[in-house]
Amino acid sequence: MEETAIIEQIKFYVQQKFEKEGTGHDWFHIERVYKTAIEIAREENANLFIVQLAALLHDIADHKFHNGDLNIGPDTAEKIMKTFGLAPDLIKDVKTIVQEISFKGANNDYPMSTAEGAIVRDADRLDAIGAIGIARAFAYGGSKHRLLYHPEEKRTLHDDFEHYYKDESSTINHFYAKLLLLKDRMTTPTAKKIAEHRHEFMVQFLDEFYQEWNGER
Ligand code: ADP
Ligand code: NI
Repeated sequence: MEETAIIEQIKFYVQQKFEKEGTGHDWFHIERVYKTAIEIAREENANLFIVQLAALLHDIADHKFHNGDLNIGPDTAEKIMKTFGLAPDLIKDVKTIVQEISFKGANNDYPMSTAEGAIVRDADRLDAIGAIGIARAFAYGGSKHRLLYHPEEKRTLHDDFEHYYKDESSTINHFYAKLLLLKDRMTTPTAKKIAEHRHEFMVQFLDEFYQEWNGER
C-alpha cells in the first residue's frame, strides 16, 4: 500500500476511535498535533512518514487512562502498524516515539532519541499550552475529579513517573508541574517560537485567575 493511503486509513481509524473523547485527548487534539508536526517537519530534516505515523498514533492508548501502564500505547501502535504490513524498522522507530513522548515528571524529562520524535513531542507540547492547553487541562482535571485550585496545596516538581502520575492535586497545580515548564523544553526552533506567545497567555490567565479568586477583580 502507498504511504499516503496508509496515512489516510490510520487517520480514519483514529478519528472514529477518538470522536467522543471528553478529556482533551479527542480526535481534534490528534489532528492539531498531526498538522503542527508536519509544519515543524518542513523546517527540519526529518522523515515525514515517521512523523505522520507517530503523530496519529501517539495517544492511541494513553497510560493515563490505563492505570499508568506505560506499555499499552507503544504496544497498541505496534499492533496497528503491523496490520498495515509496515517494515519492522519503521515500526520500531514509531513505537519508540510513542514510548518516549509522554511527560513523566518535571525532573524526569529527557531528550527524544530521534529528530522525528522531537518534532512530534514539540507538536504535542504546543497543544498542551496556550488557550487550548488551558482548556485541555481543565477538561482532563474534571475527568479525574480534580479541584480547579486549592490555595493551600504546595507546588511539587516530580522526580519520577510514579509520583507525577499519582499526584491528585488541582488543575492549577498542573501548570507548575508541567505546563509552564514546556516553553523551555521544546527542541525545534519553530516550536520554541510558537511557545513564547502561548506561554505568555497562560501567565496572564493565572494572574487573572488569582485576582478573581482573591476578590480583586
Ligand atoms: P502527555 O502524555 O505528555 O501528558 P497528552 O498529549 O497526552 O500529553 O496530553 C496531556 C493533556 O492532559 C495536556 O493537555 C495536559 O495538560 C493534560 N493533563 C495531564 N495531566 C494533567 C493533570 N494532572 N491535570 C490537568 N491536566 C492534565
Ligand atoms: Ni497528545
